[in-house]
Amino acid sequence: MSNNMIKKAGGFEILNHWVLAISFFILAISGFGFLFHLEQVGSAFGGFNQMRDIHNWSGVVFAVSLFLTMFKYLTVALNFSADDMAWLGKAGGYFSKKAQMPPQDELNAGQKLLYIVVLLLGIAISVTGVIMWLRPEMADVNKWVLFSFLVHNIASDIFVIAIPIHIYLATLANPGTLRIMISGTVPVEWARKRHAKWVQKLGY
Ligand code: HEM
Repeated sequence: MSNNMIKKAGGFEILNHWVLAISFFILAISGFGFLFHLEQVGSAFGGFNQMRDIHNWSGVVFAVSLFLTMFKYLTVALNFSADDMAWLGKAGGYFSKKAQMPPQDELNAGQKLLYIVVLLLGIAISVTGVIMWLRPEMADVNKWVLFSFLVHNIASDIFVIAIPIHIYLATLANPGTLRIMISGTVPVEWARKRHAKWVQKLGY
């Protein structure tokens, strides 16, 4: 790594993020297939029965991958400071070119918020998914199965709104961000502008 680059994600985090992203897309596409009973989507997965197996096991992969993100992101995300509140108050500066933004940690306040939302929704969607998966053996707990369908569907609606926004912010809206999930490194100057507190902590 040259002197003017700084490491923001390691090999494990990069791999795990792609596992998370790919399993998410499989889940979202097959989930839509079930929701609207889309024959073409069903046959692309080898029929609805096979699509159900693929959906369920992708859900297991997604849940494990989400669990593994906690080692890197949870402590950072839960550490909300006055600077983070100020950042949110200015909506990240996305609506004003002149906004002076408060210094940010390794994740900015929006990223912290996204992480917490993804984690909570991810837990809700995984637990309710398992309940639905096991439902033939749980016929006597009908209420919970119905409740699980509701929560699973609401959580997936929020996911399919939030994730495209995340992808847009991590690519087109903030050029240079995507390389964190490819090489894992960013230029020090780029990081200083966006994550001043983190860069300072690292001693650059
Ligand atoms: C093609 C799809 C995706 C791309 C290009 C992408 C890109 C990125 C990048 C570049 C980062 C690092 C940002 C940083 O460290 O400053 C990141 C972080 C993250 N990603 Fe993704 N991502 C994608 C899909 C997903 C999906 C499907 C999920 C969850 C279901 C997700 C959840 C997260 C979370 C929670 C973080 C940490 C918080 C944050 O940085 O916003 N990503 N992503």
